[in-house]
Amino acid sequence: MSDFRCSAKAPSNIALIKYMGKEDPVLNLPANPSISLTLDSLCTMTEVTLGERHGGAVQAELSPVKVHNTVETQLSELAIQKIIHHTKRVIDCLVPEPERGLFHDKTIEIRTTNSFPMGSGIASSASGFAALTLAIAKLCKEVFGKTNPGLNPISMTLLSQISRQGSGSSCRSFEGPWVLWENQSACKIESRLPPLTDLILLVRTQPKKISSSQAHELVKTSPLWEGRVNRVREKIKLLQAALVQDDLAAVSKIAWSELWEMHSLFHTSRETFTYFEPATLQALKWIQPELIGKTPPIVTLDAGPNVHFIVPALSAQMWKEKIQAEFPGFKILEDQQGLGASYGIPTKSCETHFHR
Ligand code: DP6
Repeated sequence: MSDFRCSAKAPSNIALIKYMGKEDPVLNLPANPSISLTLDSLCTMTEVTLGERHGGAVQAELSPVKVHNTVETQLSELAIQKIIHHTKRVIDCLVPEPERGLFHDKTIEIRTTNSFPMGSGIASSASGFAALTLAIAKLCKEVFGKTNPGLNPISMTLLSQISRQGSGSSCRSFEGPWVLWENQSACKIESRLPPLTDLILLVRTQPKKISSSQAHELVKTSPLWEGRVNRVREKIKLLQAALVQDDLAAVSKIAWSELWEMHSLFHTSRETFTYFEPATLQALKWIQPELIGKTPPIVTLDAGPNVHFIVPALSAQMWKEKIQAEFPGFKILEDQQGLGASYGIPTKSCETHFHR
């Protein structure tokens, strides 16, 4: 059998109502629903190749999966193990047992690269697991598609559910621009807002000390956890209504309250921790007076220090200049809203970020 090579691209997403706290940590089922905006060129590109196994220490150790990392930052051993585990999970979910044997004397080589710094608060696990899921699914389809009608086509809903088990927020990167994730399913939702641009003030690009997986556990020890699920359900209703009514001011207000609520959980957990850097707080204080206008930016933070200013694409340039003038020493990443993960070679816009 000759080598099979498949690739996929998946964007990051930024939640306005956050997935924080798990109902089931094994399946990554969330304690509460969340709503996010899918991005476009801030993405992961992954290429997988199925080839003959040639022996050798690394391949034996990682068999049947070999991971290459083409980003400047080296993947940790834990990250590699997660990738291998997830690759097996995707194959197990899609390929019937007897046929899986075909993979046993083969090597799957995985090459993956991000268009943004890892661990910077931009959800690399979301785009990473979505791209990996899609690339492996395509490989399964190429190899077993003829004999398995079930693989033609593979629904994005199923792939999103498999991906979620690798990293929860990745299930929201398969569609866009707006996605609601509740329990097992992540679906596109209606919005009449104009096209949006996310301007990300990069306050710090070093990997974070507390991973989001740790944060998911710690938040439950906060006294503020009580009532969180009901509060979120209320915010979800309000946000869905504001999106449909094209009410940017209401969206901005909900995102602002959710940002503070999630970070307050971090600040009040049993072992308190913070992602705030001095410039994070400076940016939040600076933007607050702007939030009372008719078309305020939507401001949010992930489990990281970087500040997302989400604004209508038509006013993005004006906002970028304004933010840059206030924070001259910091880089700003810019991305548009997007439609979700796709098979194949990445778009031009995605590549431009790789050579910064
Ligand atoms: C703060 O999806 O990274 O970005 O399921 O453990 O991989 P795991 O967690 P992850 O959590 C993301 C948390 C968040 C909020 C969000 O994206 O909704």
